[in-house]
Amino acid sequence: MVSLAIPVGRIDTRASIEPLIAVSGPDMTRVNALILAMAGSNVELIPEIAEHLISSGGKRLRPMLTIASALAHGYTGDAHVKLAASVEFMHTATLLHDDVVDESDLRRGKKTARTIWGNQASVLVGDFLLGQAFKMMVEVGSLTALHILSSASAVIAEGEVWQLSAAKHMTTSEADYMAVVDAKTAALFAAAAEVGPVVAGAGDAERMAMRNYGRSLGLAFQLVDDVLDYRGSAADLGKNTGDDFREGKITLPVILAYQAGNNEEKAFWREAMEHGRNDDEALARAKSLMHGHGALDATITRARSHGEAAYAAASTLPRTPSRDALLSVVEFCIDRVN
Ligand code: IPE
Ligand code: IPE
Ligand code: MG
Ligand code: MG
Repeated sequence: MVSLAIPVGRIDTRASIEPLIAVSGPDMTRVNALILAMAGSNVELIPEIAEHLISSGGKRLRPMLTIASALAHGYTGDAHVKLAASVEFMHTATLLHDDVVDESDLRRGKKTARTIWGNQASVLVGDFLLGQAFKMMVEVGSLTALHILSSASAVIAEGEVWQLSAAKHMTTSEADYMAVVDAKTAALFAAAAEVGPVVAGAGDAERMAMRNYGRSLGLAFQLVDDVLDYRGSAADLGKNTGDDFREGKITLPVILAYQAGNNEEKAFWREAMEHGRNDDEALARAKSLMHGHGALDATITRARSHGEAAYAAASTLPRTPSRDALLSVVEFCIDRVN
């Protein structure tokens, strides 16, 4: 694998997403307006729930990737605005569904929709947002972009179902887990970045470079997210930490700590993840075992190497502010762990 030195640590975390916010800013104003308009419905509960989640913010990372990857290929039209809004709707729908599946109580610093309006309403509004996303994609009229995004939508759902069946089985391997991450998270990052060169009419090599960039960034992003579930704070993340452990979700830090553990430790992990012995005392032990075996740092090392692959893929672009923004957001995704 190409190993490039990402200048991590030299630029502060906020600064490294700033270039992406700057290059995509004017178009993101239109994306955000479209998102609000498309969340509307005469059925009152729909805008109520959708706006609860949308107005609580979110980084808008994926739609900004779509905007920047289109601009990086010299695009001057406006199809990328609709595609970016579609991408964020797919993400928002996934979060509504995911919080039901994971029984999560906090998202973007607010109570989850499911704790306020219930699981049924959350699932159905998620479905509505997915439908709206597909309407916008069809309006763009690019069969290729539609193919990329609809494939991602199916793969994300597959990833979530796969995770549901792998959860609670300590036999899950690192490769199994990475396949889940590839599907549930990296697929949307890959699609978000790939549709940029598609609307810009760029060639297959450019498409592949952006797809690889998005995929690698998505893998890194989720691995860092997995670390933050054990090491981060709810105040910073806007979602509760420790959720993965309490759900018995086998993420990479757990897999690595389990593999490095002795028989007594392996028994602890099985009790916790497979039989639900996951109270605060067990969580504290889990964190201490992870610390002892360097499982969180090893996960960050994996994330960093995916980050390097993302960096290498975007480095093939001609030098523009959009390319530099795509490069510097790689640091942001990895550095948010610190
Ligand atoms: C959350 O994604 C879901 C994961 C893939 C971990 P983000 O962290 O991008 O969520 P928002 O949109 O900023 O809230
Ligand atoms: C987020 O997955 C949703 C998808 C990427 C499909 P997680 O369950 O790992 O992320 P959080 O912690 O809820 O954001
Ligand atoms: Mg979740
Ligand atoms: Mg998580």
